[in-house]
Amino acid sequence: MASSLQIPAAISSSTSAFFGRLPSNNKNSRSWEVSLPRRKHGVCKCISSPSAEQTAYKTKVTRNANMAKLQAGYLFPEIARRRSAHMLKYPDVQVISLGIGDTTEPIPEVITSSMAMRAHFLSTVEGYSGYGAEQGDKKLRATIASTYYKDLGIEESDIFVSDGAKCDISRLQLLFGSEVKMAVQDPSYPAYVDSSVITGQTGLFQKDIEKYGDIEYMRCVPENDFFPDLSTISQADVIFFCSPNNPTGSAATREQLTHLVQFAKNNGSIIVYDSAYAMYISDDSPRTIFEIPGAKEVAIEISSFSKYAGFTGVRLGWTVVPKELLFADGFPVAKDFNRIVCTCFNGASNIAQAGGLACLSPEGLKAMTETINFYKENTEIIVDTFSSLGFNVYGGKNAPYVWVQFPGRSSWDVFAEILEKAHVVTTPGSGFGPGGEGFIRVSAFGHRANILEAAKRIKQLYK
Ligand SMILES: Cc1ncc(COP(=O)(O)O)c(C=O)c1O
Repeated sequence: MASSLQIPAAISSSTSAFFGRLPSNNKNSRSWEVSLPRRKHGVCKCISSPSAEQTAYKTKVTRNANMAKLQAGYLFPEIARRRSAHMLKYPDVQVISLGIGDTTEPIPEVITSSMAMRAHFLSTVEGYSGYGAEQGDKKLRATIASTYYKDLGIEESDIFVSDGAKCDISRLQLLFGSEVKMAVQDPSYPAYVDSSVITGQTGLFQKDIEKYGDIEYMRCVPENDFFPDLSTISQADVIFFCSPNNPTGSAATREQLTHLVQFAKNNGSIIVYDSAYAMYISDDSPRTIFEIPGAKEVAIEISSFSKYAGFTGVRLGWTVVPKELLFADGFPVAKDFNRIVCTCFNGASNIAQAGGLACLSPEGLKAMTETINFYKENTEIIVDTFSSLGFNVYGGKNAPYVWVQFPGRSSWDVFAEILEKAHVVTTPGSGFGPGGEGFIRVSAFGHRANILEAAKRIKQLYK
């Protein structure tokens, strides 16, 4: 386990890794490498905004107007930028990242050894394979169906293996096109709203209410037990619904999901159900939307190995599009999604898919559960820390996220305060939508030593 004083642990998010790879020797590049004082672990890189240094030459290509609607940066790159600036300001402190929600613990060896074997096999004549099926390896599809959807009527052919849930969120938006109206939990994982904007489903951002036009924001707050009042939704073609939810950590109950499915049926809507954290559920909340009778006619489910097996870098997920789900003209949604997948994607990496199969072996499932339990212990430490300080604390029980309320305060101010005074990175709740204002999200992904150190500093700050 890494020492809590190692800088790489603090900058180990996928975002910073991405920034680190951006070209820095190109004059037109939008990134600048900034050398920090050289230390044991080398050079840190940070991002500054483009300036007059940029070339004046312009192409004749018009900027996509939907891209221009997007507000500022995507949330997590913005947090990475602030964290980098903080590390420049305090080069000698250890910054602990409980922000972006990236996994930190090693992938169990029973899983990596299968990937290594598959990789080595590719170097043999009999073991080499090129492009695989765009929908994924048949055996993996069948095993996902039998592991996560046993006795629920979901079959191998309903499963599309992907390179992660985030990628399929965008592929689904491409499937629906610009004419649909979407509804989304507020707060929610930002990729739903941003991909909707990019696809052209929305109006402009309205600064006064912090919302895009033509999206139904379904407010999820402690007062409604984090389940939206569906009677206030005027029209929703596609409903993005994440349970257990990122960022609030709350999982919808069977009764609530039954209500959601009934609502979708009454309105002719399609639910896109994100179950990326289902294996973190501790109580009897449903693990999949397909536990709800009738869901196959109204729902798609996206999921991922990212937070189960530490596959955030390996990249592997899946989407379930039941054959029973039909568009208004009777055309099967799965057939169109298949076309999108075959056009936009050449199948998940064969090495990653070997890892996915290993995840679902009895030993793999046991190893994944152990890793998840480790993060759940972290969650308890974080919940106890904030509860003992008298804060209202939500989530944590069914998800690796703790949602802490700071009544009357701006989320970004609280984020800045905790970063400045405790050198701990959290995520401002308002970054997930206006319903998140007044909250911060604290991620339980971290080495134990870092979680304990962060807890100590936070207790010191708010005692
Ligand atoms: C709710 C939710 N869905 C999807 C994703 C992305 O998952 P993946 O790594 O499979 O793209 C995340 C990642 O944080 C998430 O929180």
